[in-house]
Parts: sequence; structure tokens; C-alpha cells
Amino acid sequence: MSQTTLHQFLQQRGSKEPGLNALLLQITVACQAIAKQVEQGALAGIIGSAGSGNVQGETQQKLDILSNDILLQECVKEASLAAMASEEMETIHPANANGEYLLLFDPLDGSSNIDVNVSIGTIFSVLRKKHQGAAHENDFLQVGREQLLAGYVVYGPQTTLVFTLGQGVHMFTFDHQTQQFVLIKENIQVQADTKEFAINMSNMRHWAAPVKRYVDECLLGVEGARQKDFNMRWIASMVADVHRILCRGGVFMYPWDKRDPTKPGKLRLMYEANPMSWLIEQAGGASINGTQSILDIPPEKLHQRVSVILGSKNEVSRIQNYHQNG
Ligand code: AHG
Ligand code: MN
Ligand code: MN
Repeated sequence: MSQTTLHQFLQQRGSKEPGLNALLLQITVACQAIAKQVEQGALAGIIGSAGSGNVQGETQQKLDILSNDILLQECVKEASLAAMASEEMETIHPANANGEYLLLFDPLDGSSNIDVNVSIGTIFSVLRKKHQGAAHENDFLQVGREQLLAGYVVYGPQTTLVFTLGQGVHMFTFDHQTQQFVLIKENIQVQADTKEFAINMSNMRHWAAPVKRYVDECLLGVEGARQKDFNMRWIASMVADVHRILCRGGVFMYPWDKRDPTKPGKLRLMYEANPMSWLIEQAGGASINGTQSILDIPPEKLHQRVSVILGSKNEVSRIQNYHQNG
């Protein structure tokens, strides 16, 4: 069987902008280095807390910081890159003043799963710098629909890369023998209907009424309004939950809840919600904050949080309906 490597794929069906293809390759170089550390685990001394907090007040794991450093170190080498922003850094990190792209990343998604050997990943998003000269923080504040490239690498039983350049979603698995990412699925489509949902049920008492109604109906199964039984999965790594949805459908929710009504959600718009929403939409699914498409939300600040509901189109539209019509 002839195999298509990521390099070959980008030559044949990549972006018309060579700098964007080069940046994607450079991101995968960083992710390969992160994957090596993840595989070594305790042997590489990467398990456990770093004893520090990030700008959002979350405790950082050693691997959060290490992954962030690897991405900075590798991606700065790419001449087309102007600057980077990360969930783990308060302000932006300049790369090359003449560069034309802006890179945003969640260097390590699923921090609570690092120490227990459950799938984790890196999520990335690329925007255009729209002027000459050095990049500023404001340049990053673009709606999700303006993304040029979005994707993730999941470090699970396999190391798998998934990305979109705006023309479908493609999946590659890392082959340790050849040290190459190899194409395994092109133009992935998320099925429109599903019988599987993902939400952290321990927050149930804090949910808003539309989310509670949706989940209650799923739980009633064949005996309720939905007239079918549902299954539930919650990996607690968005990257792995979204990967499952791209592979076999489903709906993922980390909605706004009443714990802190001033907080729009837990997940971050720029590093998590936007790239995942674009991937899901590119694969025929949908993504909302409850009422509005996530990709249309104008960001006000880099570390903005948002309510996220995404996945199989008909389920997401049902949940949107519950939000709009009660
Ligand atoms: P991160 O590790 O980058 O902070 O993100 C963790 C996020 C997301 O990946 C996951 O879906 C969610 O937090 C899990 O939250 P709970 O621990 O509340 O279930
Ligand atoms: Mn994350
Ligand atoms: Mn993270």
C-alpha cells in the first residue's frame, strides 16, 4: 500500500501559501518532541506539578511549561511566523518581525490527565498578521472565521495530527519507523446524528436550564422524548473528546454554569474553542456558545473564556433551539 506523508500531502494539496505549509511542518516538529517527552513520562521527569500558576490562576504541570518552551523554541525558527500567543503566557512572544502569520496554542491540553497516562494533546491556530512590522497583541484579536490553519496533535495510544487549511479536515498518524506523519483519513465528516454526549456531569447542579433539559432527555433514553438510548463519555482532555467526535460523532459540552456567573465558561476562545470549532465546522458539524456560532464571536482579549457546545450538527442545533426557545 502506498502511503502519503505529511510532506507529500502539503506539496500536492497543501496551502497555496508556502510559508503556511512550512509553519505547519514546524509545529509538527515541536509536537514530535513533546510526544517523546510524553512517552517517557516519569522516566523523563515530566510528571507532577511545576509549583507555579499561569495567567489564568491555574496550577501548571511540568509538562505544560515544557511543551510551551518546545513550541516557542521550534516555531521561532520558521521565518514566516511573526509572533506567538499561548494559554501559558501572559503576553505574546515575538518571532520574526517580517513574518506574516500569528500562532496561538494550548501547548498541553488535558493537564489533569498527564500523571495518569490518559490521552492529552497540543491545539494550535494560525491567523494572518495584517500589516508590516512587529506584531502586537491586538493583531491576534480576530474572529475564529479568519483562521488560516487550525489543528491538534493528540498524544494517545497513537500520536495523531488533525488539521484544516479551510479545505476539509485531514488526519495523520505518526509512524515511528519512518519518523513521518502518514495520512490515514482525508475529508473527515462528522455524522449529523449521534447517540453519544460528553459533559462533566459533576457540574449538573450548576447548569443553565437548556443544558439540563438536553442532558435530562438523553438520560431518559428510549422512555423519554428522544426515544433512543444515549451513551456518555468524558475524557477531560478536550483534544481527545473532540478527536472521538471527529471519528464517530457525538456532542461535547463545557457550557457556562452558575458557579461563577461572571465567567463566560471554562475553555479558552483563542487556544481551544476557535481551532476546535473550525475543525468541527470543516467536517460538517457545528459549534456554538449556546446561541451563537463560536467562530463569529469577536474576541476582546487574548485569554477570553467561552461556553462551548460542539459536534454532530443535528444535536447542536437542538441544543441551540433549547437556548433560544426555552
Ligand atoms: P487544560 O489542560 O489546557 O487547562 O484544559 C483542560 C480543559 C479541557 O481539555 C477539558 O475538556 C476540561 O478542561 C476538563 O475539565 P474538568 O476537569 O472540569 O472536567
Ligand atoms: Mn486546554
Ligand atoms: Mn493547556
